[in-house]
Amino acid sequence: MTDLQQIQQSALDAVSAAGNIQELENVRVAQLGKKGVISAQMQQLGKLPPEQRKEFGAAVNQVKNAVTEAIDSKKILLEEKELNEKLEKESVDVTLPVRPDNKGKIHPISQVIDECVAIFAKMGFAVEEGPEIEDDFHNFNALNIPPNHPARQMQDTFYLPANDDSPLVLRTHTSSVQIRTMENGKPPFKFIAPGRVYRSDYDMTHTPMFHQIEGLYVDKDVNMGHLKGVLHKFLKEFFELDEVPLRFRPSFFPFTEPSAEVDIGCDRSGGEVKIGAGKDWLEILGCGMVHPNVLKNVAIDPEEYQGLAFGIGIERLAMLKYGAPDLRNFFDSDKRWLDHYGFAAGGN
Ligand code: PHE
Repeated sequence: MTDLQQIQQSALDAVSAAGNIQELENVRVAQLGKKGVISAQMQQLGKLPPEQRKEFGAAVNQVKNAVTEAIDSKKILLEEKELNEKLEKESVDVTLPVRPDNKGKIHPISQVIDECVAIFAKMGFAVEEGPEIEDDFHNFNALNIPPNHPARQMQDTFYLPANDDSPLVLRTHTSSVQIRTMENGKPPFKFIAPGRVYRSDYDMTHTPMFHQIEGLYVDKDVNMGHLKGVLHKFLKEFFELDEVPLRFRPSFFPFTEPSAEVDIGCDRSGGEVKIGAGKDWLEILGCGMVHPNVLKNVAIDPEEYQGLAFGIGIERLAMLKYGAPDLRNFFDSDKRWLDHYGFAAGGN
């Protein structure tokens, strides 16, 4: 073996012995670096008689190329190996149990919706949904609220750019789902519709977005006795009390006739509101018998069918049952608030 062959062989051996990128880099410097073995051979060139230079130069170049190539392909191998090791090390074991101190909580709004859906389901109410961006017809007209009706002002509506001639709104109440569901089906109807609603209002008891549960029951002989019975049963179950005193106060909604606001009995003497026994009353929901015009607007004959309807504020239920005093905190996404008022997944 010539010197050059020996140099090449030991360089290639060193390359294949390199176990990681750093070792490989050391080999490169030792062989091809400025003071490296192969570079030293290059420097011999100048000392050779001119007739030998060409041949020797070509031979050294060949060694240099062979070693460079070996280093390059080894480098790719080592990089791949290191990446694989890294991926292996950093893999997440998804079967590991969640750390209990790091567990997410269920928002009180979600919790209350779940509770309401469960209670009404036992009374045979299905769940319906509708869009939050509504047109004038479904949010107002079909609900017997014609243009310029004062009830439109009552609701501090958010308007969106008009769609053709008909203005779009963020729905101001879930009553729009009454219309949408009745349009798309045939009576009887018995459902609740939980969801977000929007009104331009902001203080301790109002936020521009809040939640309602609409209830609608339309059949051939539905009367106010059913309305009272359904609400009474719901409130007793929701507040987990054997008895909740109810008071129906005459009221006005364009889409119900007669209309009522329902108060529940409570006791405010201790500074806190205690639901159930007591001398005080607290308004909790709006309701009534579906106005004949509303039934006509969805092609249902009011001579044949009657309906009961109600709308309940979900935040109000949550505040009363779970004692959160300021409504605005519900939507602050403050982890400390959620840790306090939230619920463990799986129910507790
Ligand atoms: N839509 C009414 C509101 O938002 C509540 C309601 C619903 C009243 C159904 C009567 C019947 O104030």
